[in-house]
This record gives sequence, structure tokens and C-alpha cells, in this order.
Amino acid sequence: MRNVLILDDEIDMALALKESLKRCGFSPVVYHNPVSALSELNLGDFELIITDMKMPKMDGIEFLQEVRKKGLFTPVIVITGYGTVENAVDAMKLGATDYIMKPFAFESLQRVIERIMPSEETDMVAESQVMKNLLSIVRDVAKADITVLVTGESGTGKEIIARKIHKSSLRADKPFVAINCAAISEHLLESELFGYEKGAFTGATEKRIGKFEFANKGTLLLDEISEMAYPLQAKLLRAIQEREIDRVGGKTPIPVDVRIIATTNRDLLSDVKAGRFREDLYYRLNVFPIKIPALRERRDDIVPLADFFIKGLAQKMGRGFELSDEFKKYLLSKNWEGNVRELENFAYRTVVVSKSDTLMPPHEEKVSMSNMSHMEASLSSSKGTIKDMERDLVVKTLRETSGNRTRAAEVLGVTVRTIRNKLKEYSITDEEINS
Ligand SMILES: Nc1ncnc2c1ncn2[C@@H]1O[C@H](COP(=O)(O)OP(=O)(O)OP(=O)(O)O)[C@@H](O)[C@H]1O
Ligand SMILES: [Mg+2]
Repeated sequence: MRNVLILDDEIDMALALKESLKRCGFSPVVYHNPVSALSELNLGDFELIITDMKMPKMDGIEFLQEVRKKGLFTPVIVITGYGTVENAVDAMKLGATDYIMKPFAFESLQRVIERIMPSEETDMVAESQVMKNLLSIVRDVAKADITVLVTGESGTGKEIIARKIHKSSLRADKPFVAINCAAISEHLLESELFGYEKGAFTGATEKRIGKFEFANKGTLLLDEISEMAYPLQAKLLRAIQEREIDRVGGKTPIPVDVRIIATTNRDLLSDVKAGRFREDLYYRLNVFPIKIPALRERRDDIVPLADFFIKGLAQKMGRGFELSDEFKKYLLSKNWEGNVRELENFAYRTVVVSKSDTLMPPHEEKVSMSNMSHMEASLSSSKGTIKDMERDLVVKTLRETSGNRTRAAEVLGVTVRTIRNKLKEYSITDEEINS
């Protein structure tokens, strides 16, 4: 959680800020009095301080100076009144990180915050006790620089955990490179991993470095490791053991310093027993196993996750959504075999098709979703010509997925090809989506 200190003697203002920041995933603490804020402020407590300028007893500038005197370099944003630019300039000279002038829209403050502390942190929901424990283990193991094997059913959050490990590690400012071992053929995977020299095979007109070299000094995520072909597993083992790789067609090995994180949704040990996965590689990867429980085994996460996805999207849309009690009950009644990914898609879909700001369970839409795609379902519940509605829906969904077609297809329950066809059919341009 990103802790933010808010200091403002105006109680309404402070509370409004607190609520807005909370909705953006921050963990705000409000003080109305600079003196008590100072006395309780310690190193590492807060990632950001937002203070008002005009306060009785001690103004924002004095407060800022006191903070710095305590040896704290926490970024400070000063809120100044309208027309007091001199104050703002003074504050900057005295070490304020930035300022914002009243009255302001929360979005402007958000932009300032984003500039100061870009959200490279992977935001994660962990309300259930098992996930809280898991995250604290993740933080510890991240620092240890050892190989981690992340297991869990499809959609449980293996990749997000892998990123978290990287971000919490001493390699955080070095590259994080991911490769999906299931997505490509054995030969392609080998050259993707290790790169190749010019002339190594037909078509290798230039030398190319592979993911291992890209990830040098950083972290390499080997996604769906169980799908790696047996012969290639031997080459991977060598790379891990010897800390060097051979480019395809290369003559000299190249040293690499890479932390490996592997993921799988299979029981690798049974693959080992069945002779599909190398035992020696298994033990090399399974140095520190992390098993993410299925969502149905940590039901306390269900509503907070839905809330997180919905609020995130709402913010992008500049709207606010409430989760009705019926909606929450519905969420809790489902088994979520597709885990967090399924819940995320469901949440997005609900937002996209909801006409009201209070979200209701799907049966309230009076449309049976069972026999048709979500796209058809949301269309049949809409007015206007079907073509117009369909065009709108595609554009809207793409906007909300930042133009990601795979994601949009998932959200609408259609194939990527359908999305592509619709873009063509309705002459929807990237410009329109980005506008
Ligand atoms: N605890 C969480 N908090 C917030 N978002 C999450 C959390 N867990 C997963 N997600 C989101 O759910 C989706 C699925 O997660 P992720 O891709 O990490 O799962 P996975 O286990 O790698 O899935 P797959 O097996 O399909 O590859 C992603 O969009 C991810 O950001
Ligand atoms: Mg994954």
C-alpha cells in the first residue's frame, strides 16, 4: 500500500482528498494539525506528503522545512491558494517537489502524483489472510535473489506475482523480460531465448540477441515452463547452471546474470514422473516454490478484487460506480473457475454494459447470457440500430482496454478476429480509439 500523508486544517477538504486518494489505491492518513503530523512522522512511514499552504500556527512552507530538517526526503506536494504564486515558488525553492493551485480538479492532482511517483509498483489486491501471508513471503524472497517457481491455476495471478518479485528485488531498476514457453515452437523458442548469430539458419540475416541477454542483470520470467520441449530443457538447465548461454550458431558462450522466475499451472512433479519434464531442471527451478491459491479458496478477495477492477476502469472513464449488495452477493455465489482473470473480465464487461452507476448482477439485465456472446447480449439490451450500437460498443471497449484487442475480445466474449473484422467493417481507426 502506498501511504500518503494529508495535512490540511480544513476538515472537508482533507476528507475529500482522503476519499479520492483511497479510490486510487492509496492508503491516506489525514492530519489537521502540522505539529502533531510532525511529531508522528518517521522515516519510511509515507511515500508522499500533501500539505495545504495556509494553516494556523505553522504554514505549509514551515512544515516542509521541518520535514526536511528531520532528514526526510519524502516528496511533498503543496496546495496553494489561488493567486499566491510567490508562495508556490518559495515552496519549490525550499524543497517542495511540486505544487497545485486551488481550486483544482482531483485529476490534476493525480497527474502531479503520477509524475512524482509513477505507478511502476504492481498494484495488487490481497485482502484474504492467505494472500497477505503470501505477499509478505514474496517480499522476503524477492530480496534473496533466488530462483522462484510460481504455481497456481490459470488466472490466479502468477505473472503479477512474478512482476512483484522483480519490483521488490534489488534488480528492480533492471529489465524484467517475460517469455511464454507455450506460445511458440521449439526452434523459435530457442532463438527467442538465446538469440542467434548471423547465418545460423536460413533467414538469420542479422545476429539477434535473445531474452536471456535482454534480461541481463534483471529478471527473466519463463511463463508456462511445463510446455518447453524436452531437448530445450537441457539447454535451459545449462544456462541456469553455468550462467552462460550459447546463441544459436554461436561459437563462444556468453555470460549472463539473470534471475529466473518460472510459472506453471501444471503439477510439474507429475510431469517429471511421466518423463515429460527433466528432473534436474525441476530441482533447479523449484528452489523456492510459491503456490497461489485458487480464487474460490480465498473468497475474501472476491469483492475487493471486483471493486479494484471496477474503480480502476471507472477512473479512466471519469465515472463512479457503486457495487450493489445484490451484485456483491452474486459475485460471492460464483465459483470463479477461471480465477482472477475471469473475475476481471466479468467486472469490465459489467461496467461496459451497465447503464446505471449502481452495478447489478447480470440477471437484472433481463437478458439470458447463456446462449450468446456477451457482445450480442449487451447489444440486445440496447436501443438504437444494432449496427450503431455494435460500433459504439467496440469503440468503447477498446478505449477502456487502452486499445488492447486481445483484452477487448475477452471482455466482449468474442475472438480477436471478430474485433479485427469489426474495426474494418465500421472503419474504426486507432485515432478514434485514442481520441
Ligand atoms: N491480486 C491481484 N490483484 C489485482 N489484480 C490481479 C491480482 N491477481 C491477478 N490479477 C489480474 O488478473 C489477471 C490474471 O493474472 P495473471 O496474468 O497474473 O494470472 P496468471 O496466473 O499468470 O494467468 P494464466 O495462467 O492465464 O497465465 C491479470 O490481469 C492480473 O493483473
Ligand atoms: Mg500467466
